[in-house]
Amino acid sequence: MSSSIKKIGVMTSGGDSPGMNAAIRSVVRTCAFHKITCVGIYRGYQGLIEGDMEELSARSVRNIINRGGTILKSARSKDFRTPEGRKKAHENLLKEGIDALVLIGGDGTFTGGMIFNEEFGYPIIGIPGTIDNDIYGTKFTLGYDTALNTVVEAIDRIRDTASSHDRLFFVEVMGRDAGHIALNVGVGAGAEEILIPEENLGLPRLLESLEKSRISGKTSSIVVVAEGDKTGKNVFELAEYVEEHMPNYDIRVTVLGHLQRGGSPSCYDRVLASRMGVKAVESLMDGVSNYMVGIANDQLILTPLDQAVKGKSEIDKELIRVSEIMST
Ligand code: F6P
Repeated sequence: MSSSIKKIGVMTSGGDSPGMNAAIRSVVRTCAFHKITCVGIYRGYQGLIEGDMEELSARSVRNIINRGGTILKSARSKDFRTPEGRKKAHENLLKEGIDALVLIGGDGTFTGGMIFNEEFGYPIIGIPGTIDNDIYGTKFTLGYDTALNTVVEAIDRIRDTASSHDRLFFVEVMGRDAGHIALNVGVGAGAEEILIPEENLGLPRLLESLEKSRISGKTSSIVVVAEGDKTGKNVFELAEYVEEHMPNYDIRVTVLGHLQRGGSPSCYDRVLASRMGVKAVESLMDGVSNYMVGIANDQLILTPLDQAVKGKSEIDKELIRVSEIMST
């Protein structure tokens, strides 16, 4: 594998997710393996503009594979949205002699990368890192598997109280625009109903379903609500609405929030991050640019960044049916 790439920059941007550190480690060590210098850029695009970066050796990423968050930190950069900001970022890359960038993040990160590539023809490759799993071109994003396990564990605990007190719990989980987390943990944690942005169940059907389960002898229930659910009511309003119509239920609400985003990555996320990091660096060495690394049928694949950003990551319709059958 001979390549003109001698120096690669790596950065994380957007919301942190478990597995980002494992991906940074993989990029750094793949560079070291191929005798390429690797530079870590701090605070995403903002650090790039400010020249906040340092060389990372294979040893400098020791003991991070198991850590959540990102050692390179993350930030949302208003400056990078301006042509002046991007010009400054490009100048810094030239000044440091960095030939290509590995971007670890979600669709916002990739959109920035695409614009940058368009304006300067700068070589870019993306690694999807977000707990939401809402990126087209990969079955799994880094952090998603860990978040599922975290959320299922949390709901299991809530279930203890729900069943001890015969209560109905509404549990809000993350997913601004996507119901992947809600749908999967809903099935995995045995939820009565799952409300996701992709499917509008509607309030009358929710009441109908809860009434049916009450009549069938269920004394406690869990309803999982995705943050981005479009029922028209937030989780607290939803609970109030159900309480008004079904006074028999003793209702509580739990919003899991940011506890879903942190924590030590699962083995799956660590392995995926390691594989994706190798693929990202070696793709750049092969002259590939403006693509995202993804996984499908356990094979690493490359998807053009614009498709990754614009394409829709479809939810698993079969899981909806499975969930309906399971809540019989
Ligand atoms: O994009 C991941 C995500 O966790 C969303 O599900 C959530 O809406 C958002 O980040 C929260 O972002 P912030 O940390 O900026 O509040």
